Amino acid sequence: MATALRSLQLIPSIPLAPHPTPIDELTRLRAALGPECPRLLMKRDDLLSFGQGGNKVRKMQTVAAAAQQEGADMLITCGGVQSNHARVTAATGAVLGMQVVLVANGARPQPLTGNARLNALFGAEVGYVASREERNQTMELVAAEARAEKKHPFIVPLGASTPLGAIGFARGVEELVTSPHRPAAIVHSTSSGGTQAGLILGCALYGVKTSIIGVSADDPSAVLTTTIAELLFGAASLLGAQPASIGAHSPIVVDDAFVGSGYGVPTPASTEALALVARTEGIVLDPVYTAKAMAGLIARVRSGVWRRDETVLFWHTGGVPGYFV
Ligand SMILES: Cc1ncc(COP(=O)(O)O)c(C=O)c1O
Repeated sequence: MATALRSLQLIPSIPLAPHPTPIDELTRLRAALGPECPRLLMKRDDLLSFGQGGNKVRKMQTVAAAAQQEGADMLITCGGVQSNHARVTAATGAVLGMQVVLVANGARPQPLTGNARLNALFGAEVGYVASREERNQTMELVAAEARAEKKHPFIVPLGASTPLGAIGFARGVEELVTSPHRPAAIVHSTSSGGTQAGLILGCALYGVKTSIIGVSADDPSAVLTTTIAELLFGAASLLGAQPASIGAHSPIVVDDAFVGSGYGVPTPASTEALALVARTEGIVLDPVYTAKAMAGLIARVRSGVWRRDETVLFWHTGGVPGYFV
């Protein structure tokens, strides 16, 4: 275990933003949710000071280091038109002097908005495809063309949700252990699985006893739990750890009850959560990911899942440019 933690800390990483991010206490949101509400904290990864922040910055720090080690001069990745991950990849390429090609499924917004607008600002090229299914093949084509031109492309899979990306995120748990806070639960948005795998891994290695609840923005729970377990097995192998010692065999909690009618489509609960957090705390959530995760937290508070003397931490994974779409 100690060796695996050491390996986690030693994996090469490019510091894209200073850490730690703040952990804010949400006293007004707590008051608004009534006398039985537990103590509420928020880990402010939305404030990571690189490329407009968010969870993808943590994952990109280890993934970009691997790209650099391989001598890459080009990053290729994919996502939806408003992908936060694509935007952070665009910013990473800009600072590392690498060309960036993004494969986005959907139509080019006219005019460019939110993350799509930031991608252009960071200097990335964007190729649009009609469906999610075309993304991987298109990335391979772009990479093959680049190799033919003697370039060194590096494909970053969707969401940087690879074992290495999860390791990048897991390091963030050190910021929790070095804080005075010991939450009974951590609630966050989950979609491609790397953040949740990182939290499970980090909590196991840093000895944080808490329940980790991923609220899906998208896929059914059964699909995501399998993906997260696979990421944990991959991370265990990179770190030379037993999968069980990093939580790969423990139950993985993904709640898919807050997706509503689909990815990015607001629900009454997510719209309420977004407005309530803004009007009590002056904090902006995003409609695609964090507002749905906060709706999951609020529903649990209202149904009395936690005692009022317990602490619950909401990990704000960013995505705020998505509000301006
Ligand atoms: C703002 C935001 N929150 C949460 C997530 C989910 O993270 P992950 O893809 O690592 O599950 C994403 C990305 O998909 C995101 O952009």
